[in-house]
Amino acid sequence: MALVAPSLLAADFLKLQSECELINNSSADWLHLDVMDGMFVPNISFGPMVIDFVRQVVQKPCDVHLMIEQPGRYAQEFKNAGADHLTIHIEACPMLHQDISAIKALGMKAGVAVNPHTPVGLLSDILHEIDIVNLMSVNPGFGGQKFIPYTLEKIKQLKKMIVERGLNVLIEIDGGVTVENAKSIIDAGADVLIAGSTVFKAADPVLTIETLKAI
Ligand code: DX5
Ligand code: ZN
Repeated sequence: MALVAPSLLAADFLKLQSECELINNSSADWLHLDVMDGMFVPNISFGPMVIDFVRQVVQKPCDVHLMIEQPGRYAQEFKNAGADHLTIHIEACPMLHQDISAIKALGMKAGVAVNPHTPVGLLSDILHEIDIVNLMSVNPGFGGQKFIPYTLEKIKQLKKMIVERGLNVLIEIDGGVTVENAKSIIDAGADVLIAGSTVFKAADPVLTIETLKAI
């Protein structure tokens, strides 16, 4: 059974409070929050101010995914806003070890995200320092895209690295996760399913979360 983290990006922002309450009243494990700066990715979403509001309602751990340049500059702000996990992109961080250390020193779980073209082997020398790897299964920037099938190979490679070294690192899969492809993703070795459109655009989001959790 995988953990399920619905992505707020696909929620109705006119009803943010009730969307957050929906998450509280579901079997979702975490809430995933996508922060985009219009520079690292070609889209702008929301920042710490919105997360601070969301945090007043949401009772589940907040898994914050920073798709921004120089994310280390903002670690303290996202901590103050209530982030429990802070994930930064390997492609955005020439001083990745330093940024990860800062996130952990602030008391958050530290995650590293990798874009679809980035080999998981590049994580080798940071893997023992982190709690989460976010394997992007679409090019980051937008919800509602199609799952890139090669991600399944990357999950298997990464899982092997984690198991061989006896590490305690969770693999989360982000982008294009559906009720149909979730089994193959879990079978490949994923621990956390992030699902935006599949959950929030469903007729019954709570039931859809249940369905993903039961796979
Ligand atoms: C994409 C984001 C994802 C996105 C997933 O850049 O990182 O978290 O919200 O959305 P779906 O599940 O709709 O592909
Ligand atoms: Zn994300």
